[in-house]
Amino acid sequence: MFDLRVSVVRFLIFFFQSVFHQISRKICGPPKRREDDARGKVVVVTGANAGLGKCVAMEMAKRGAVVIMTCRDVNKGIQAQNEIQSSTGSDKITLVELNLADISSVKRCANQISSRHSKVDILINNAGIALNSPSTQLTKEGNELHFATNHLGHFLLTKLLLDRIKNSEAGRIVNVSSSGFIMANFSIKDLRMSKLGLGLGTFAPYCNSKLANVLFTKELSKRLADTRVKTFSVCPGLVNTNLANGYYANENLQHYLIKGSLGCIGLSGEDGADGILHCALAKGIEDTSGEMYRFGRLMNFDQELTSVCGMPTDSVAEKLWQKSEKLLDLKQLH
Ligand SMILES: NC(=O)c1ccc[n+]([C@@H]2O[C@H](COP(=O)([O-])OP(=O)(O)OC[C@H]3O[C@@H](n4cnc5c(N)ncnc54)[C@H](OP(=O)(O)O)[C@@H]3O)[C@@H](O)[C@H]2O)c1
Repeated sequence: MFDLRVSVVRFLIFFFQSVFHQISRKICGPPKRREDDARGKVVVVTGANAGLGKCVAMEMAKRGAVVIMTCRDVNKGIQAQNEIQSSTGSDKITLVELNLADISSVKRCANQISSRHSKVDILINNAGIALNSPSTQLTKEGNELHFATNHLGHFLLTKLLLDRIKNSEAGRIVNVSSSGFIMANFSIKDLRMSKLGLGLGTFAPYCNSKLANVLFTKELSKRLADTRVKTFSVCPGLVNTNLANGYYANENLQHYLIKGSLGCIGLSGEDGADGILHCALAKGIEDTSGEMYRFGRLMNFDQELTSVCGMPTDSVAEKLWQKSEKLLDLKQLH
């Protein structure tokens, strides 16, 4: 049941925590750039043409990785690829079309990657949308658009690439989530979100999809426990990218407030990407597989997770896995 008071309290906690962390990050300056080597690693980045994904792709190319940029819009992708190539001098960057909201596109993308590469070392599930729509938007398969793009598409891509990731000496899967998951209004019985309440509920589809990223990471790490593959979810903090453009498309007061705040306290794409790179490359974090990181630090969000899920996190995570397979009509379990 949607409880507006609980959501408001959660929102205030989240808001003040985020502002505090953002400001301390700004005051302390950018983190010491981590120079973990990525030479020889095959890295797949979703949503690599803009924002955080582009910064991650750029940094991976600088560090010598074979970078596979997956992009929804091929023209935007080519432009970003050219930019990264000329800035880094790398000749190891390729582009694959991927629309996460379209199951057949995800399958095509995974097939192309698998046919060209015998292993994938790092998969960065980064692409995402945040829209503000008065009514629930559905994909052609009938799934809620945020959930389909931000979670289901990545869930499917990960499953289809898993054999290739297992071929890596030290595979990693990084799911870019958000600590905004604490504002989720989540029901495992209503993943199509047809019964979402109003109020903060308009923000809920995005937060629900980010909660799904965290739960997916936890369940994936459990299922991969006897493999070399590690998985992390990461909150990049508030970052000045295009993400808010979809949510605050109308140029009203809200639009200018959020744009202004992002301008003041939002991190640059490079700083936001640093936390993602940490989870992708840092040595010594392997035994925290399944956990969430923010600004390169392990976060303990267990209490918030249990409170948002309304039941033990492990059991919701397992149910979400099964329901995701059902929604995608997948028979084979990993
Ligand atoms: N920015 C923040 O403050 C913030 C905070 C917490 C978490 N995050 C997370 O960080 C991730 C990256 O966001 P960002 O801030 O870099 O946003 P962004 O600048 O808007 O970039 C989003 C990327 O995702 C791609 N994308 C959107 N829909 C897609 C689809 N259906 N299929 C494939 N690609 C699609 C976009 O492609 P197009 O260019 O074609 O639209 C773009 O490349 C997201 O998962 C977001 O939830 C961001």
